[in-house]
Amino acid sequence: MSDTLDIRVVVNGVTYERAVEPRLLLSDFLRQTLGLTGTHVGCEHGVCGACTILLDGDSARACLTFAVQADGCRIETVESLGTVARMSPLQEAFREHHGLQCGFCTAGMLMTSVDLLKKWPLASDAEIRDGLSGNLCRCTGYQHIVAAVRAAAAQRKDGSK
Ligand code: FES
Ligand code: FES
Repeated sequence: MSDTLDIRVVVNGVTYERAVEPRLLLSDFLRQTLGLTGTHVGCEHGVCGACTILLDGDSARACLTFAVQADGCRIETVESLGTVARMSPLQEAFREHHGLQCGFCTAGMLMTSVDLLKKWPLASDAEIRDGLSGNLCRCTGYQHIVAAVRAAAAQRKDGSK
């Protein structure tokens, strides 16, 4: 019997078909199998939020998901947002408002914020704090991250991109 299973996923708009071990975590699949190392791995047990990605449009912990569970799903990682030369408005807001220091939590913060702003486009500070409460940052004290997400939300309010 084969000890791998075939899966098919669409990651950042690209379709991948791979044979994976059933125990392979989605975080390891993204980082090691696909080479998408923007998704970070911190605690590996669902606490820190560093590994947050979008799974069929909703934020999810890649370290708590097996790759086989994502079979047939659409995944977005931080690489979907923008590049250094062409950042998304949310990334630009993080840069502008000093929403990161070491950057370890940033991919997870960004992907959680994408989901948060999709669900609460004009999020208040309380909603932003609530939405980000599952993501840990040991550098910033959170204030600058909240300011960045607030700025991104305000930009949407203004209709600017
Ligand atoms: S690495 Fe997944 S929640 Fe910490
Ligand atoms: S910027 Fe260092 S952990 Fe958040």
